[in-house]
Amino acid sequence: MIETVNGNLCVDGVKVSDITEEFGTPCYIMSEKTIRENCRKYKNAIEKYYGGNGLPLFASKAFSCMEIYRIVASEGLGTDVVSGGELYTALKAGFDPKKIYFHGNAKTEKELIMAIESGVGHIVVDNIEELMLLDRLAGEKGKIANISFRIKPGVEAHTHDFVKTGQIDSKFGVALENGEAFEIIKTASELKNVKVVGAHCHIGSQIFDEDPFMLAAKVMLEFMAKVKNELSVEIKELNLGGGFGIRYVEGQNPKDYDEYMRKVSETVKSESAALGLEVPYIVVEPGRSIVGAAGITAYKVMSVKTIENIRTYVAIDGGMTDNPRYALYKSEYEACIANKADKPKDFKATVAGRCCESGDLIGENMMIQKPEAGDILVVFATGAYNYSMASNYNRVPRLPVVMITDGKPRIIVKRETYEDIIRNDI
Ligand code: LLP
Repeated sequence: MIETVNGNLCVDGVKVSDITEEFGTPCYIMSEKTIRENCRKYKNAIEKYYGGNGLPLFASKAFSCMEIYRIVASEGLGTDVVSGGELYTALKAGFDPKKIYFHGNAKTEKELIMAIESGVGHIVVDNIEELMLLDRLAGEKGKIANISFRIKPGVEAHTHDFVKTGQIDSKFGVALENGEAFEIIKTASELKNVKVVGAHCHIGSQIFDEDPFMLAAKVMLEFMAKVKNELSVEIKELNLGGGFGIRYVEGQNPKDYDEYMRKVSETVKSESAALGLEVPYIVVEPGRSIVGAAGITAYKVMSVKTIENIRTYVAIDGGMTDNPRYALYKSEYEACIANKADKPKDFKATVAGRCCESGDLIGENMMIQKPEAGDILVVFATGAYNYSMASNYNRVPRLPVVMITDGKPRIIVKRETYEDIIRNDI
């Protein structure tokens, strides 16, 4: 929990200023308690609404490091990985390969071999070339790969263009409208080294409305019925992807995730009955909604530059290298000065990062307490797609991740050093 105690911002009871004193700035700070609570919401919903006949997967693109895989595994979740790097990290952390789903629209031969050899439970096939390659590779290894298909259900969710993936114009998956999805399943059902287990869709990200999820579930079930009737192929598993929204700024009010799950389950059950299908095994893949609100980033204010009648730049010791989301998507955040957290937020700031790049901003028109050099500036809800999207632009080392566990801070990812930065330089 993030709250202000005696004028100081605290995460699960630990003062942010104590954390930054011990571990330095900038740093990511995450609440293990919040992550676990979020995992349980999804896990319990699968128990409640599907009698346990399903599995939530943590979409680890939101935040991938060894400790996070250990935490979600201990909560009984599976995980979705999208690259050899995420897969390697999960396996090194001891994640049960049977509970790993491997996504991606351009998996390499090397990655597919790695997945087959390590016994990854599901490979979510994106395209026909991948299907044929996978069948060949599985055959060469004497294995049968369980597969699902990434399907574009043609459902559009209202969110930022860059993260909209359900419509036909998407680089991900195969389309329903033009028969592509039907054809690929027909082909797969005739192959020897793959087993068609599931159908998958992901309609977008940072979605607040449950209607598109319900519509996608309906469209997918209708497709599964068609495949059953016309190809005699029974798809036993329906993966509805992730995308549940979180609160970044005031006015964004996500519903309780249990409520999404309940509503979608009603559609899944009634549609299955109407179509004469058994209720499928249900998989969901939340990423942002598990880790997003569990994290903050703490920076040091380096300078405050007021340009009369234009704006005030508040420069911090981090920026787009640790959080590229404003630069990429104009994503909004809230911030505060941790050591003045009980003072009014009456100062309008453009929070600027340290890179040689005018677009290196964390936000514009952000209301914070009056800042001075040396203050600790905190940006909220940075637990998802910040650490995982960080870069070394300008050779800025990546930040450490401090996890608060049972009221105590511990490092789960070390701060990069300059030695790390030149590690692969010859
Ligand atoms: N499953 C699939 C197949 C996905 O493509 C994604 C996200 C998820 C699950 C998890 O979605 P979530 O629950 O986290 O919304 N970098 C962007 C987000 C890209 C999301 C891509 N896919 C951002 O910073 O907003």
